[in-house]
Amino acid sequence: MATKSTLPASPAPTITVMINGEMVTARQGDSLLSVIRERGIAFPTLCALPELSAVGACRLCLVEAVGRPRLLAACVTAVEEGMDVRTDTARLIEYRRMTVELLLAERNHVCAVCVANGSCELQDLAMSTGVDHVRYDYIHPPDLTLDASHERFVVDHNRCVLCTRCVRVCDQLEGAHTWDLAGRGAATRVITDLAMPWGLSVTCTSCGKCVEACPTGALFRKGTTVAEMTKNRGELTFLDEARRSHVWKLGDFPMKETERNNP
Ligand code: FES
Repeated sequence: MATKSTLPASPAPTITVMINGEMVTARQGDSLLSVIRERGIAFPTLCALPELSAVGACRLCLVEAVGRPRLLAACVTAVEEGMDVRTDTARLIEYRRMTVELLLAERNHVCAVCVANGSCELQDLAMSTGVDHVRYDYIHPPDLTLDASHERFVVDHNRCVLCTRCVRVCDQLEGAHTWDLAGRGAATRVITDLAMPWGLSVTCTSCGKCVEACPTGALFRKGTTVAEMTKNRGELTFLDEARRSHVWKLGDFPMKETERNNP
């Protein structure tokens, strides 16, 4: 009878790449983003979360690589031996600023009346990329709605940046796949089940992982008002690490705010 090997998995072979002129050792198969993060380089991302698969949706993590005419999205690009990458060129800085401006022009992100004001990754990106005004015409589709049919949570499509973190966390960490995308291009929307009100979803477990993963005020807990919505990603990190290591220590499980307040 075949038995499971107890030998430790052999480590991935290492390779050498250049990041901003510095020679760096990386594991084969690592993403450029993880290598850049390990170096502690300040680097903007929006759709990426370490606990979830990478999809390259926001295009904020673009880098330049010598010998490649196209910019590369670091989160979905694996490091290759001899790569010579720059994260800080004038072209990249301008593209990042432009990307943030386009996100702000697309939907209604009025921070002054947003639940996530002060705890919003898009707001942080606007500040770090120096966006103090938007050079493009605002689109702000008038048909974007707010769905408050769920007993604990709300989705405000005006604040959604289509990063798909909610879709991925619901599928990959919760296993419910309640969230998905519908439509194409500028008409794309996140939906629950078959585009039914969230409160009528038969697959939603009300776990709240999507709310914690959301980078903006698009998903929030009911009862929070302007600038009150903070995100707690501790549970996502705990679940991801426990699944990888097959070690579940209940004492380490991070409590949610509601549980902390009502033990
Ligand atoms: Fe890489 Fe969004 S973080 S495309």
